[in-house]
Amino acid sequence: MPMKVMNVKKTLELGVFTGYSLLTTALALLLMAKYITAIDVDKEAYEVGLPFIQKAGVEHKINSCQSDAFTVLNDFITKGEEEGSFDFAFVDADKDSYMEYHKQLMKLVKVGEIIAYDNTLWFGTVAEPEENVQEFAWKGIKYLLELNSFLAADDRVESAVVSIGDGLTLCTRLC
Ligand SMILES: C[S@@+](CC[C@H](N)C(=O)[O-])C[C@H]1O[C@@H](n2cnc3c(N)ncnc32)[C@H](O)[C@@H]1O
Repeated sequence: MPMKVMNVKKTLELGVFTGYSLLTTALALLLMAKYITAIDVDKEAYEVGLPFIQKAGVEHKINSCQSDAFTVLNDFITKGEEEGSFDFAFVDADKDSYMEYHKQLMKLVKVGEIIAYDNTLWFGTVAEPEENVQEFAWKGIKYLLELNSFLAADDRVESAVVSIGDGLTLCTRLC
């Protein structure tokens, strides 16, 4: 993502784990970037990756929150200070909550800017008929199928599915 060209300064990351994607974002942001709010329920994994973030000299750009992402976003909305203030959001947390995150992020990300949803092709399984998929996996696929249909029909965003990795849906907020 050409974040320097996009003049991205303030971002959200939902689902951090060891911080691989977080470090990529931090390195891509402008030097003057305010910060990335990076949210994960688990801080242990983040601490494994933290030395690499420190070595890269970008720790100061990261505001790490150990919390459920819904709660943090809800607080931002309730306080009313952060609405329409983020330049980019990367969503890679619990897939069954992506629809709820979308509702919240449509308030928090600026009009004209991008919300990115990771894993939306789910190893290609979203294209498989239900009978070809093992029962335990179908629930997760169903969430993503619903999300993909919802985003495609949401006229408040312009969406594009990028078939890299496990599928990344880029939604530009139009209004
Ligand atoms: C796939 S990993 C993130 C990987 C990371 N974005 C990367 O590419 O390096 C998903 C993470 O989401 C976190 N997670 C799951 N449910 C969450 C929730 N409700 N709120 C915040 N984080 C959550 C998990 O703890 C896990 O670390």
